[in-house]
Amino acid sequence: MKKLFIKTYGCQMNVYDSARMADLLAPIGYAKAEDAEGADMVILNTCHIREKAAEKVYSELGRLRRIKESRGGDMMIAVAGCVAQAEGAEILKRQNAVDIVVGPQSYHRLPEMIARIARDKGHALETDFPAEEKFDSLPQTCDVSGPSAFLTVQEGCDKFCTFCVVPYTRGAEYSRPVAQIDAEARRMVEKGVREITLLGQNVNAYAGAGLDGEDWSLARLIRHLAKIDGLERLRFTTSHPRDMGDDLIAAHGEVEKLMPYLHLPVQSGSDAVLDAMNRQHTREDYFRLVERIRAVRPDIALSSDFIVGFPGETDKDFEDTLDLIRAVKFAAAYSFKYSPRPGTPAASARKQIAEEVKDARLQALQALLLEQQHAFGRACVDRTFPVLFEKPGRQSGQAIGRSPYLQSVHADNASHLIGKLHTVHIEAAGSNSLQGRLVS
Ligand code: 5AD
Ligand code: SF4
Repeated sequence: MKKLFIKTYGCQMNVYDSARMADLLAPIGYAKAEDAEGADMVILNTCHIREKAAEKVYSELGRLRRIKESRGGDMMIAVAGCVAQAEGAEILKRQNAVDIVVGPQSYHRLPEMIARIARDKGHALETDFPAEEKFDSLPQTCDVSGPSAFLTVQEGCDKFCTFCVVPYTRGAEYSRPVAQIDAEARRMVEKGVREITLLGQNVNAYAGAGLDGEDWSLARLIRHLAKIDGLERLRFTTSHPRDMGDDLIAAHGEVEKLMPYLHLPVQSGSDAVLDAMNRQHTREDYFRLVERIRAVRPDIALSSDFIVGFPGETDKDFEDTLDLIRAVKFAAAYSFKYSPRPGTPAASARKQIAEEVKDARLQALQALLLEQQHAFGRACVDRTFPVLFEKPGRQSGQAIGRSPYLQSVHADNASHLIGKLHTVHIEAAGSNSLQGRLVS
């Protein structure tokens, strides 16, 4: 058996892709290793969404090069993911210890690339965009660890927000056919998966070939998957406010397995900034949308992504973002300083914001979001809800699981419940997790 180590950066889709790469390499003799030191093959599955991503990859490659040299060159190094797509042959030029550069739509060709290198020596580079071909050639196995798994149903983006590299690194929107997703979900459930998070860069724009020959929406896909016995929970991420259709909103009120938690990035609360970002909706649109979702599912928890310091963002624009946050109240959020990405329209905008201003705004924004996150945690105390236990905790007998709202929940005497759902009474809220007691 050869040893394979995959280091994953960035989003959940990369986590999914890394698992599929392991699936692809298992039949040609690769078993997973815990670190790069003992590995025959190392894959860096990279992310290009924000600053210094490429530089981090090059410095990690420098470290791997030294390990490779200490083993007399007997180690294969591959760079996969979005940095591979964006940098391409540049990586082979800058770091000649790299054997393989493979983009996010081409990694199904890894076994063939490895064979080619073993035969001809030299390097291999694949950065084409055949998303359909990739999904068609993934193996019918699935490397799942634990009761919660990701499943990519849609990939790529046609929206072209002016700050974002995704349309360039992941390509055009592509939705997998329902039959393929259904088969993969069932394989996961057979392996003990109880919760599936459907992934897509624009997951709610999903429009895949349905079982009746028509294109199905995400809501139809969810209603279909909810019928799988043994599958207890469904989630989906990431959504665009523009694609929250009526049927998807209705599903939140009707499909019991669909968790009451929605990640709905808004990025900014200022109409001027939203417009400059090409988000194609206003802050009022976002408020109305949240109202409609809460009308069908009053206990839904919302999370979001925010960017501060987008080119041209004034103090007033930033105030509008804080105001939106105060009005909506989020259970969780991710926030970032705007980072100019080469090749995107906003990167060449004239009014870039000074770093100190971005820092100050990020701090203020995160303080407010953290306050809301803690308030949401405190509001869960004394409530009772099902927790899906995923792994052992630090103390003996303790187990850690997830609430319907994706919070970490710790419970004592629960280690026998790992892999299962169990009702928990929440007794205390910490800054990042909840403490609960099993209810019999
Ligand atoms: N700068 C900062 N944040 C960004 N994001 C995407 N592109 C950039 C960028 N250039 C953030 C957005 C998106 C999340 C995945 O990453 O908030 O929703
Ligand atoms: Fe990027 Fe916008 Fe597409 Fe999301 S919707 S992936 S932020 S371009």
